Amino acid sequence: DAHKEVHNKPFIIVGPIVHSEEITKLKVFDGGLIAAVNGKIVAVEETPKNLARIQKKYSVTDGCVYHLDKGQFLMPGLIDTHIHAPQYPNAGLGYDMQLLDWLKTYTFPLEKKYSDLSFAAKVYEAIVKRTLANGTTTAVYFATIHVDSTILLAKIVTHQGQRAFIGKVNMNYKTPEGYGETTKESYQKTEDFIKQIQNMKNNLILPIITPRFALSCDMELMKKLGELASRYNVHIQTHISENQGEVAAVRGLYRDCKNYADVYDKAKLLTDKTVLAHGVYLHDEELELLAARGSSVSHCPNSNTSLKSGLCDVRRLLNAGIKVGLGTDVSGGYSPSILDAIRNTLDVSIHISYGKGSNYAPLTYPEAFYLATLGGARAVALDDTIGNFKVGKDFDALIVNMKNLGPIDILGEYDTEALVQKFLYTGDDRNISKVYVAGRQVK
Ligand code: GUN
Ligand code: FE
Repeated sequence: DAHKEVHNKPFIIVGPIVHSEEITKLKVFDGGLIAAVNGKIVAVEETPKNLARIQKKYSVTDGCVYHLDKGQFLMPGLIDTHIHAPQYPNAGLGYDMQLLDWLKTYTFPLEKKYSDLSFAAKVYEAIVKRTLANGTTTAVYFATIHVDSTILLAKIVTHQGQRAFIGKVNMNYKTPEGYGETTKESYQKTEDFIKQIQNMKNNLILPIITPRFALSCDMELMKKLGELASRYNVHIQTHISENQGEVAAVRGLYRDCKNYADVYDKAKLLTDKTVLAHGVYLHDEELELLAARGSSVSHCPNSNTSLKSGLCDVRRLLNAGIKVGLGTDVSGGYSPSILDAIRNTLDVSIHISYGKGSNYAPLTYPEAFYLATLGGARAVALDDTIGNFKVGKDFDALIVNMKNLGPIDILGEYDTEALVQKFLYTGDDRNISKVYVAGRQVK
């Protein structure tokens, strides 16, 4: 089909490029180039001097060499490591309550509605479009317990061209009226769901096993899901230590477990493909366990603030050797934008630093940029494929346009690094003019 043809045509983008090579290393090339063939990066150059040679080598037609204008730059796509697609209608609502009451009062009644496929279609089309417009090239989605509407989310994501993990939620314990499963239903439906996703043959979409959290699943179900994850070699996501009431309830329920992380570890849910949302109240012992297992934390600062869950010390997680990515956690968080998550991450880190000594370093904008890109890729164990610009990785990228800052002669006074900084602090979806996933333009 026509779209595929365009997508398969080799192309080269010439101009300023920014990406992370490491958390402390934000790289800016003022006039670099990137060539992509079949959605994969085949050349990354810090200057344009080899343009003609590369164009010839990959048979790139003149019409497929794009020179960025002044005020534009190219950066890797943003990665949202934790977002609840069905909760989008509640974004901005319900922050008069904290986590456990919020779930009962606002969240479960909304999620229950996703047995209705036409309602699901409307919301899922809208949230995928909105996240893509905001530069989220990879999203790690929680859906609901319903297999059919969760498969529909996967189809919508496929059609719109996003890269995603799709999770059918598991809940068999203390479930609300009309929104729960038996143990057997829960794992059988999950296995069926994994097979259906794998049969879709879209390598941009992966299934992710999604026990909601230790207060919605019992140990028997969690152990079965741990087995399923190992048998199908798939990712796992859940929530951990988000809120003090939640942590106390988990301690009370699992008296023979050492701590919250140990509950998941006993179920073999802590793997190097596990993403744990929040992690605000983890103890040192739990940090050591997560680091040993290679499990990651999705930092969701908007949600931690909006639901008054607490302040998550990302510096401490990083110092413990834990992989960290950023999450919007819609609708615990009100914003579906990872740019907002970057700013919220910086705010929270600065607020934490006020209570610490002068040797505590709050996160910097290059570090927040890393968490939103390469850090997120590492958190979901996809850093061989995405996260920055390296030959052999997929071309998941944004063309950012800061020209609408003002007249071009004023812009002339900003170098690329300043434009990047201004985008991170003041940008929004209006500054994201093109979005590519595996070389396909999806915005
Ligand atoms: N813990 C269990 N379920 C949820 C949820 O839907 N959102 C958040 N923020 N935390 C949870
Ligand atoms: Fe969440």
